[in-house]
Amino acid sequence: MCGIIGFTGRREASPVLLDGLRRLEYRGYDSAGLITGTGNAFHLRKKAGRLAELAKAVSAHPAPGCYGISHTRWATHGGATDRNAHPHLDASGRIAIVHNGVIENYATLKHQLRADGVTFRSDTDTEVLAHLIGHYYHGDLVAAVRQALALVKGTYGVAVVSKDDPGLIVGARLGSPLVIGVGDAGTYLASDANALAGYADKVVYLNDRQLCVLSGDEWEIRDQDLSPVATPLRDIAHFLGEGDAEKGDFPHFMLKEIYEQPETLANAMRGRLVDADSTAHFGGLNLSSQQLRQIDRVILTACGTSYHAGLVGEYLFEELARMPAEVEYASEFRYRNPPINRDTLVFAITQSGETADTLAALRESKRMGHTTLAICNAVGSSIAREACGGVYLHAGPEIGVASTKAFTSQCAVLAMLALYFGRTRHLSSLQGQRLIDELRALPDALRKTLGCHEQVKRIAAKYASARNVLYLGRQYLYPAALEGALKLKEISYIHAEGYPAAEMKHGPIALVDESTPSVFLVPRGNVFDKVMSNMQEIKARGGPVIAVASEGDEEVAALADDVIPVPDVPEYLQPIVVAIPLQLLAYEIALLCGCDVDKPRNLAKSVTVE
Ligand code: F6R
Repeated sequence: MCGIIGFTGRREASPVLLDGLRRLEYRGYDSAGLITGTGNAFHLRKKAGRLAELAKAVSAHPAPGCYGISHTRWATHGGATDRNAHPHLDASGRIAIVHNGVIENYATLKHQLRADGVTFRSDTDTEVLAHLIGHYYHGDLVAAVRQALALVKGTYGVAVVSKDDPGLIVGARLGSPLVIGVGDAGTYLASDANALAGYADKVVYLNDRQLCVLSGDEWEIRDQDLSPVATPLRDIAHFLGEGDAEKGDFPHFMLKEIYEQPETLANAMRGRLVDADSTAHFGGLNLSSQQLRQIDRVILTACGTSYHAGLVGEYLFEELARMPAEVEYASEFRYRNPPINRDTLVFAITQSGETADTLAALRESKRMGHTTLAICNAVGSSIAREACGGVYLHAGPEIGVASTKAFTSQCAVLAMLALYFGRTRHLSSLQGQRLIDELRALPDALRKTLGCHEQVKRIAAKYASARNVLYLGRQYLYPAALEGALKLKEISYIHAEGYPAAEMKHGPIALVDESTPSVFLVPRGNVFDKVMSNMQEIKARGGPVIAVASEGDEEVAALADDVIPVPDVPEYLQPIVVAIPLQLLAYEIALLCGCDVDKPRNLAKSVTVE
């Protein structure tokens, strides 16, 4: 989603800004812009479309100057046009602003500004803020930003510059991340530390409602009443994902990330499986043994793919820990007021750690007095910092917009957590040790599973022209079916639905015809025969069937039109194994459809607006 990078120092700003924006590209955007300053002149360039368009504009009309701010925009208010791209200027043209987040009361503010004679040049909520800052500006930019923000309802990460203060950048955050970076050439302001890799050595994150002031090598964080806040810098390395965000020999980040999964899964488990106690161990849960014993229920809250991992977690907690578990879309949970007893533990599951709805759900849970834990990939992200404790995935940066390796690591972490809680309750040491051995065998099972890629390619070629695809599974494989369908629709734009296989006959089976393939998740397990009956029902209605099945399963091969073999693993680990062919199938079909796999239309990697 939207990205910010600003720089003030001793070198030309525009190459730094463009490079920083490039590193934020993966988050998803539809336009980009920058502004630099020389003397008391501004140089504004902004373009709809890819960053290459902005780079072309800057190369045709250079933007000189040693300070500036820039932005990648993901449209919320107003279409993806040059006009709506950030930065936005106030009425006098003296102040420029870039903004992440949403100004919820923008319509009221706009109405008042219009009544005062302000003319708007864009359809954005951000321009309202530019004019408000301009309205309060009487020579003190920090004071003007503070006064304007006091009127704003919503979320923001902002960077503001003024022609009258060359070299000065003012930043502020509420609900949208901002990080200051300090390097040899000057100081930086960004929405993500990854944008500063190679430029800044040290960083510090702003907390909500804090402001910051940057100028050359100087920087300062201030609280709401503008008093300085002493905040230590930390090494940037601490906040960067392990491994380089490079594609290497892979044509797309998504494919690279699919292939990384044996390794990322091993990383998620490294040092956490303890034979001596036949349990899992986590460094950062921050739970006393008394708290641990008191917990009698868990809520897993998340969005999108992370929500699907949460659904897998529900089965895991119930089966392995015998604990009641509930899964809630974070966007729903944040506005519900369900009766929850004090001893409920709330997990926020998130790859990015910045998803606005998940962050809000976490805060709401904390407000109600619950212990909250994050299952998170991005180190130092807002959710990781605000939760009472948590578990990192250690999956390295996930750049492809479609989540792949984060999902399998989330499932593995949830399995380890269920083992951990199970061992404090009813699981015997022998049962615990069996689970540990099964988890340890998983990376090899994934390596083997990747061997299905050629077969998946053949199947993709056969079905790429389908306009609807059904994904069907039961028990642990129902969330896996939802996730398979999500992968296909988000990167190939083909309509897909995940369903519990047995529910088909209650309505959706009406969709089945010769042109609607069904992907059945049917490796051997407790409900194998039941799923086979569901498959019969689809075949009887002429629907083509692609089965993800145990290697060498003749019974499935006799019924299905196409089979993707996967190695046998215990049922609670099947969602992790079947994820690989489902990710590959979506990837191959999207390629055949000519889609931009890593940057699907309309989507953002990190959804920082509600
Ligand atoms: C789908 C996908 C999204 C995210 C969702 C939550 O492939 O990536 O559905 O899972 O936006 O994001 P995080 O996990 O960062 O909170």
